[in-house]
Amino acid sequence: MSQMLLEATHITHSFDYTLFTDIDFTLAPSQSAAIVGRSGSGKSTLLHIFSTFMKPNEGKVTLFGDDLYGLSDDAIEALRRYDVGIIFQFHYLFKGMSSMENIKVASMLSGETIEDDILEKLEIKELMNQRIGELSGGQQQRVSIARVLSKKPRIIFADEPTGNLDKETAKLVMDVLLDYIKETGAGLLLVTHDETMAGRCDRAYRLEDKMLKEIT
Ligand SMILES: Nc1ncnc2c1ncn2[C@@H]1O[C@H](COP(=O)(O)OP(=O)(O)OP(=O)(O)O)[C@@H](O)[C@H]1O
Ligand SMILES: [Mg+2]
Repeated sequence: MSQMLLEATHITHSFDYTLFTDIDFTLAPSQSAAIVGRSGSGKSTLLHIFSTFMKPNEGKVTLFGDDLYGLSDDAIEALRRYDVGIIFQFHYLFKGMSSMENIKVASMLSGETIEDDILEKLEIKELMNQRIGELSGGQQQRVSIARVLSKKPRIIFADEPTGNLDKETAKLVMDVLLDYIKETGAGLLLVTHDETMAGRCDRAYRLEDKMLKEIT
C-alpha cells in the first residue's frame, strides 16, 4: 500500500472573502503537482495550509499520515525542521552571512549535509564564500533552494521558485527539483505562473472560481 505524503479534504478558507471551498488534494511519493491561477486567487494561502503554516477554517490536512493541525506545536516544529521543505515566494536568507553559512544553518538543524552535486547543478558552487548581499536576486533564490534541499525534505512546497529567473536558469532549477524527488521519493507541490513549468509536473491544477480544477 502506498501511503500518501499529503492528503487534504474539504479545505475551505476565507479572509475578507471566501478564497476557496471544499478543496480535495493528494500527493503521493515521487509525485509532482503544479498549481496555477490568477494573482490573489489564494495559491499561496493554500500552500501555507498544506505546509504547516495555517489552519484552514474547515477541512482536514493529513501530512505523512498525521492529522496536521491536531499535532502539538513541538511536533509541527519538528516537521518543519526535518521533513517539510518550503521555498517561499520571497526568500529569507541571512544577508550578512555567506551562501555556505546560510546553507549550513539549515543542514545542521536537520542533521544533514549539502551535496556538492546540488550546488553544481544549481550553478552556485563558486558563490559559496560570497555574502548574500553581494549576490544577484536570482543567485540568492538558488542559494535558498539549495538551503531547502540540504535538509533532505520528504515533501517540498515551492511558491514561484523560478519567479525571478530567466528561462534557462528556471529550467535548471526545475531540473534540480524534479531530479530530487525522483531520487528521494519526496513529493513536490509547485505554485507557478509559468505554464511550461506546470506542464513538467505529473499533474497541474488551476485555482479558479474558488475551486481547484485539474488541467488536462
Ligand atoms: N494573512 C492574511 N490576512 C488577510 N488576508 C490575507 C492573508 N493572506 C492572504 N490574504 C488575502 O487572500 C487573498 C489571496 O492571497 P494569496 O497570497 O493566497 O494569493 P496568490 O494566489 O498567492 O496570489 P499571487 O499570485 O499574487 O502570489 C488576497 O486577497 C490576500 O490579500
Ligand atoms: Mg502567492
